[in-house]
Amino acid sequence: MMMETVWSQLEAQKATALARPILTLFDDPHRAGDFSTQFDGMLLDYAKTSIDGATKATLLDLARAADIEARRKAMFTGEAINRTEGRAVLHTALRAPDDAVIKVDGRDVMPGLRATRARMVDFAQALRAGRIAGQGGSYTDVVNIGIGGSDLGPAMAVLALAPYHDGPRCHFVSNVDGAHIADTLKGLDPARTLVIVASKTFTTIETMTNAATARDWLAQSVADPGVQCVALSSAVDKAATFGIAPERVFGFEDWVGGRYSLWGPIGLSLMLAIGPDRFAELLGGAAAMDMHFRTADLAENLPVMLALTGIWHRQICGYASRAVLPYDQRLSRLPAYLQQLEMESNGKRVAMDGSDLTRPSGPVVWGEPGTNGQHAFYQLIHQGTDVVPCEFLIAAQGHEADLAHQHRLLIANCLAQSEALMRGRSLDEARAIMRAKGMDGAELEQQARHRVFPGNRPSVTLAYDRLTPHRLGQIVALYEHRVFVEGVILGINSFDQWGVELGKELATALQPLLEGGDTAAKDGSTRALIGFLRGR
Ligand code: F6P
Repeated sequence: MMMETVWSQLEAQKATALARPILTLFDDPHRAGDFSTQFDGMLLDYAKTSIDGATKATLLDLARAADIEARRKAMFTGEAINRTEGRAVLHTALRAPDDAVIKVDGRDVMPGLRATRARMVDFAQALRAGRIAGQGGSYTDVVNIGIGGSDLGPAMAVLALAPYHDGPRCHFVSNVDGAHIADTLKGLDPARTLVIVASKTFTTIETMTNAATARDWLAQSVADPGVQCVALSSAVDKAATFGIAPERVFGFEDWVGGRYSLWGPIGLSLMLAIGPDRFAELLGGAAAMDMHFRTADLAENLPVMLALTGIWHRQICGYASRAVLPYDQRLSRLPAYLQQLEMESNGKRVAMDGSDLTRPSGPVVWGEPGTNGQHAFYQLIHQGTDVVPCEFLIAAQGHEADLAHQHRLLIANCLAQSEALMRGRSLDEARAIMRAKGMDGAELEQQARHRVFPGNRPSVTLAYDRLTPHRLGQIVALYEHRVFVEGVILGINSFDQWGVELGKELATALQPLLEGGDTAAKDGSTRALIGFLRGR
């Protein structure tokens, strides 16, 4: 079927779907089972959405019409699907099984990937055992300097897997704001701190500036700062110019996008924190999700179904944002990680062929861990005028066995929120509550209206047993593939990021103006702001 025909069918289904309370869909006793899917210890529940049987079938038609299966094969087999940069997209190769053969331009890339991973493992083992040491003794701390994809992945994962830490402490510096590096280095011993300069291009101004600051900091205490630095980069030559010897550079190729790079050298800080075996479990989880994505029927395919709920909510229902709400304090950086993954990938206004998109691009993604968010922005989610589809993440068990009662409270809160969003509270129910408090008349009417919850607000819940390295690998790969599926359906290139360039260029041009350059060519507002900031 043609894409446009399917889009029209979905648009025709929207009015009925939105007019009908989601709760009534549960008159079908099989709904929870039919509108959820399980894989390897994970349950994706999308029953609390307005998607009914007909809409689900049409959404699956949309995926088929977009030729998702062929596009998926093209990605996994190394075709140059990132057409605006002329590159393959092969982050999946970083976690592929040992016997995999994956070719780019006729060359098997797996031997090179395996060799780099073996070097990382040797390095991590030696550093964790103290055989590789700083100039003042074994390393106690690691500072990863990177930004965007060279920061968010390892920073998110190091925090997520805190129960597995048995290596040096890891810190992350990303912002060019000197406050970030100053606060991070304060209290660290330079002679026992490893500096990791993580930059695919080795040109990113924030990272290069922070790396130079860190090198100066090391130089105050150690004879040879370069020896206490490692580079994670595709640009081995630039790392050498910075003073890092080739054997301390862990490289990767340009077909690993920054925001997809956690699985290779960019994950070194995580490997140092949790050890190579646990890191391999993370890769195993992602590889299992890859296999599921490649082989499961579309209707049972977690990334496909998650993507289709996203398409339904954003492109059909018109909801502009989506909240990601992990009920897990250790996943508190997941929303930030997903912001880059999703918004840098699918925040595009033109299709692959350069024509204007005729539908909205990906949504604004935002969130905070529960239960904290409940005491902050959930008010708007429940009673604001905009509908915000929510994505909850919850583990059956925490890592704190002696605090199981707290984990039960966490689960209860998570489930209560999705139930409340769907169920709402009617005016009659609100009136009854106020009447029971002894109120009546006009005062009761007025007060009751403030206590109405419109309900019928959709959510998806991802539940799993426990946040292990394997599970985290699965979750991240699930979101990666969801982004891919949404991008294919929208007909965009999810793997470039031209939208970040203009601001970078203007910042480079602006810097000299802050030191006294001529601002005449600038607009009035920018000129006035420079004047204000320069004079203080
Ligand atoms: O500014 C955007 C970006 O290019 C991201 O896509 C990337 O993850 C980040 O900058 C960092 O880039 P690099 O690893 O080359 O320093």
